[in-house]
Amino acid sequence: MTPTLTAEGHDAEVAARFDAAEGRFKATVGADDVRLRAVLRALGPVRGSRVLDLGCGKGRFAAHLVAAGACVVGLDLSPAMLERAEGVDRVLGSARRLPFAGSTFDAVIAIEVLEHVGDVGPVLLEARRVLRAGGRLAIVDKNALALDARRPWLPSLVVKAIDERRGRWMYPSGGPVRERWFVPGRLRDRLRLDFDEVRVEPLLRPEERHPVFRLAPAARLMTLWAAKARTQTARDGSARSGLGGDRG
Ligand SMILES: C[S@@+](CC[C@H](N)C(=O)[O-])C[C@H]1O[C@@H](n2cnc3c(N)ncnc32)[C@H](O)[C@@H]1O
Repeated sequence: MTPTLTAEGHDAEVAARFDAAEGRFKATVGADDVRLRAVLRALGPVRGSRVLDLGCGKGRFAAHLVAAGACVVGLDLSPAMLERAEGVDRVLGSARRLPFAGSTFDAVIAIEVLEHVGDVGPVLLEARRVLRAGGRLAIVDKNALALDARRPWLPSLVVKAIDERRGRWMYPSGGPVRERWFVPGRLRDRLRLDFDEVRVEPLLRPEERHPVFRLAPAARLMTLWAAKARTQTARDGSARSGLGGDRG
């Protein structure tokens, strides 16, 4: 997050951007989507379980979980996105400060959301708080070390920076909010402070056709971080905010 914005200011800017760009985001996702399949693998059977979808957007992933028998709460900052999330319990709010009691959920998912929050520390702490001990967390987000799917000789972050300058990205270049991607090992290490069995899985998208993406999974853009909420919740606070060197 840039120093010029408070957490509330950051959230307000993100909400305004998504409200304005709502028409660009899809309301459905296929059952064969690599992100959906990865999340379902990470959670295991969900029938009868309580799942929180952080930054649910239009609820396209939540809809599959509901179909699989889960009871899903979808939380999002953007009223325009949330309005389209039918079939889930909808809550308008920020992942930074969740309006739920501790240990409310069996699972928390966050699909392409953390890239918008700036400092992920408070969001991860909140996710841990609302999960029961042993509950599952599944994050899908972008790998800061990925290569571009169409031009695999270029880092995806370089292509993103060029697109940002051309005004083709969610947030304008030089604006107060940036979309941040994650170095997989750094987010894994951050998660290990509060979670057990932390696992990182690079996901192969259909558009990543070049052999480099099969031979070097670390070059893939979309990544799953899966983890289990630790029983013991002692925290030292200071080491748990921010990710420092992440890029994007
Ligand atoms: C790229 S969309 C992804 C939506 C959904 N997870 C999906 O994959 O279809 C990101 C969503 O995260 C929401 N969001 C961003 N920051 C958030 C925050 N701090 N708390 C809750 N939602 C947030 C945005 O409003 C937007 O709907």
